[in-house]
Amino acid sequence: MPSNPLADRPVRTASIIGTGSYTPDRVMTNADLEKLVETSDEWIQSRTGIRERRIAGPEQPTSDLAARAAQSAIENAGISAEEIDLIICATCTPDMFFPNTACFVQTKIGAVNAACFDLSAACSGFLFGVETARQYIASGTYETVLVIGADKLSGIVDWTDRNTCVLFGDGAGAAILRHSPESRGVMASRMGSDGRLAEILYIPGGGSAHPAGGPTSAENPVTMKMNGRETYKHAVTAMVSASQKVLEDAGVSPDEVACFIPHQANLRIIEAIADRLNISMDRFMVNLDRYGNTSAAAVAIALDEAARSGRFQRGDKILMVVFGGGLTWASTVVEW
Ligand SMILES: CC(C)(COP(=O)(O)OP(=O)(O)OC[C@H]1O[C@@H](n2cnc3c(N)ncnc32)[C@H](O)[C@@H]1OP(=O)(O)O)[C@@H](O)C(=O)NCCC(=O)NCCS
Repeated sequence: MPSNPLADRPVRTASIIGTGSYTPDRVMTNADLEKLVETSDEWIQSRTGIRERRIAGPEQPTSDLAARAAQSAIENAGISAEEIDLIICATCTPDMFFPNTACFVQTKIGAVNAACFDLSAACSGFLFGVETARQYIASGTYETVLVIGADKLSGIVDWTDRNTCVLFGDGAGAAILRHSPESRGVMASRMGSDGRLAEILYIPGGGSAHPAGGPTSAENPVTMKMNGRETYKHAVTAMVSASQKVLEDAGVSPDEVACFIPHQANLRIIEAIADRLNISMDRFMVNLDRYGNTSAAAVAIALDEAARSGRFQRGDKILMVVFGGGLTWASTVVEW
């Protein structure tokens, strides 16, 4: 058998060298939602843990949120925008069908040397992006990659549907990845999908299947549809399994993880994951009480806030795990 010429090649690691995040100024509380739909602060807090969320204005498309988070990550990493080779923007609420949102971000931050594309994996997009960045860095194709998770869900939520509108918010988070000899960086990642379950969480209209303004647009609105109970069940199962598998891949025991950063959808989902992994909740980063579910941005904002507030130090291991429409899920173990 001929040997694989790449097998002995040293793998270039990819580290997160800076993070940033941005959420819009406007706060929408549960009391504000009581004026829109039949709900209560008590119901929302007890079923989800969410107290308030941020809402972007009409003048703020997703690229605006993304560019502000990216700028903050660039400053945090201590690099210049010109050093960025690739921008991956994970979003399910792009500014337009095309150009991609990453191109708009490129212009806003002055990353003139970057190639740009968007990545669509709903709420799981940021970790799909981190793994994509790692592959480009490991292969030696690119040195410095900006990964953004950004979503303006307020634009695709049905504000008359209490089952969904209370859950979501707007925001963006970003990370700069680059090879660093000082850390092992991204140690292992898992990504998974199950397209058979597409219709438990989706936006039926607006795409090529049912174009906005087309003959079936009344039955297929450009707003989110969700089967909450099914989504809940699959979210817990997928994130527990993805966490266990990625820890095994990385050769890291749960006790060695300084901070668990899960998708920020529902406090009860996070508590169920902690329970099944037998890890105390104080090792889980939670900020959904302030932002709700910001989709691709959620884990990225949580990562940035956890890093800046000293939840972990250089050399510590962290685990991020996400879940979203598709269905999609992903997990990543990082040595900080
Ligand atoms: C949506 C979710 C919070 C609902 O919580 P739940 O405990 O499962 O609640 P149920 O769906 O059983 O609904 C219970 C009742 O509350 C009602 N209800 C739903 N939303 C409500 C609201 N905002 N305010 C008040 N009542 C509400 C329902 O209509 C239902 O009433 P019924 O029993 O008369 O039919 C929960 O299922 C969930 O978080 N699912 C996952 C959502 C998610 O994470 N999505 C994104 C993934 S990336």
